[in-house]
Amino acid sequence: MKITYLGHNTLWIETQNSKIMVDPFISGNELANNIKVTDYYPDYILLTHAHQDHILDVDTLATLGNSQIISNFEIVSYFDKKGFRGHGMNTGGSAKFPFGKLSSVVAHHSSQFPDGTYGGNPNGYVLQSNNKTIYIAGDTALTMDMKLIPRLFGKLDLAILPIGDNFTMDAEAAVIAADFVECNQILGCHYDTFPPIKINHDDVKKTFTQAGKQLILLPIGDSIEI
Ligand code: NI
Ligand code: MN
Repeated sequence: MKITYLGHNTLWIETQNSKIMVDPFISGNELANNIKVTDYYPDYILLTHAHQDHILDVDTLATLGNSQIISNFEIVSYFDKKGFRGHGMNTGGSAKFPFGKLSSVVAHHSSQFPDGTYGGNPNGYVLQSNNKTIYIAGDTALTMDMKLIPRLFGKLDLAILPIGDNFTMDAEAAVIAADFVECNQILGCHYDTFPPIKINHDDVKKTFTQAGKQLILLPIGDSIEI
């Protein structure tokens, strides 16, 4: 599985069978000026919640890629009314897709569309594809529920955790989250995009190193293979 960081919580995931865009917020992110939304044709668009900084480019991408939107029931219904196809899920549920198995897990946050429409509960996702397992936390606080993830899904190969503070957990809480999900390889997200979530990269890396964990902070557009 190849994972490309496109800034904020936006991820481009290439599995053997499918291309998945997670939480597309590219055209509104000044830090992602080097990325063009129209270069991407996702088979699936996976959304963790309805906030603007996670859904801004859904319409453009879903039109280009004729994509299927995967999210909670309320978010999928919202996009269904706009004419986009989707697969609605809810917390605790799993479903099989051509790329593998996807499970919706607890996130502690909120979820409302920019126009005020109710966006259901926010979620994280566990993606199991080709014998690899990754956890995409989405926007969330540190939560005890994270302890259930290794119990339910086994060993993780990568945990993608928010570290920017203010709207989500910070790096210190994310270290505890990494303990809870029993994963030492962390890809950081949801930092630097806006003034309240600007972080000192050296400081947060040190926080993880001192705990015996690796924090990967990818330049926007860079990829890792797991
Ligand atoms: Ni949010
Ligand atoms: Mn957010």
